[in-house]
Amino acid sequence: MVSTALKERFDNAAAWPGRDVSDSGLVEHVHLTTEDLLLRPWRDEDAPAVRDALRDPAIVQWNPQGGGPIDDEVALSWVRRRADWSAGDHVSMAVTSAVDGGLLGSVSLHRIHDGDASIGYWTVPAARGRQVAGRAVLRLTDWAFADLGLHRVELCHAVANPASCRVADRAGYRAEGTLRESYRYGDGRRYDEHLHARLATDRVGHRLTR
Ligand SMILES: CC(C)(COP(=O)(O)OP(=O)(O)OC[C@H]1O[C@@H](n2cnc3c(N)ncnc32)[C@H](O)[C@@H]1OP(=O)(O)O)[C@@H](O)C(=O)NCCC(=O)NCCS
Repeated sequence: MVSTALKERFDNAAAWPGRDVSDSGLVEHVHLTTEDLLLRPWRDEDAPAVRDALRDPAIVQWNPQGGGPIDDEVALSWVRRRADWSAGDHVSMAVTSAVDGGLLGSVSLHRIHDGDASIGYWTVPAARGRQVAGRAVLRLTDWAFADLGLHRVELCHAVANPASCRVADRAGYRAEGTLRESYRYGDGRRYDEHLHARLATDRVGHRLTR
């Protein structure tokens, strides 16, 4: 089903430039490519790979999901929540290999409201060290400004997570300050976070080219 709420929100803001908003397949069929990556909506069959990813200690720490242990049922419901864009407040994509289709990570815009959003991400351990997250963040952000009509996207990460700071920098998210003890992460402790953001009007010299 098409995400009517998402469209209505952005119809009002004269967004979706160049798009036919009556195209009932628009939202669910968004597929974005960049180099060897394909960003696509989540599917049920991603659940086993998501189960394994959400058990990774670094993801448990820096992308806490709340709740109890991650089993097959939890993973399936995680995938289904992210595949359902009907509330109009998030756009969640699986980051996959354009070569073999394997799951490499997750990137999502959430808290979409009135031209603003936040972005979050993780990569599976085997995919790290290849700038997968930075490239996925860059691609989804560029699409959100160009096609969704967003104006500002924020990115927060714990100061204690320097790899995530590199992702932000390389995807053109400028540092705007430090939020003190602003978020409780997986170990239950509150951490200082860096706030980064990109505006649609920022000039971004894409620094991800290798
Ligand atoms: C953070 C994360 C998303 C980065 O994924 P990635 O795209 O695979 O990124 P890379 O492994 O290419 O690393 C990004 C950069 O961080 C650097 N980096 C990695 N580990 C680092 C560390 N411990 N200290 C400093 N820099 C580090 C890398 O050298 C790389 O730098 P470069 O861009 O200059 O080459 C991934 O490591 C991850 O999912 N971690 C666990 C969950 C998490 O942190 N999620 C983000 C929550 S905000």
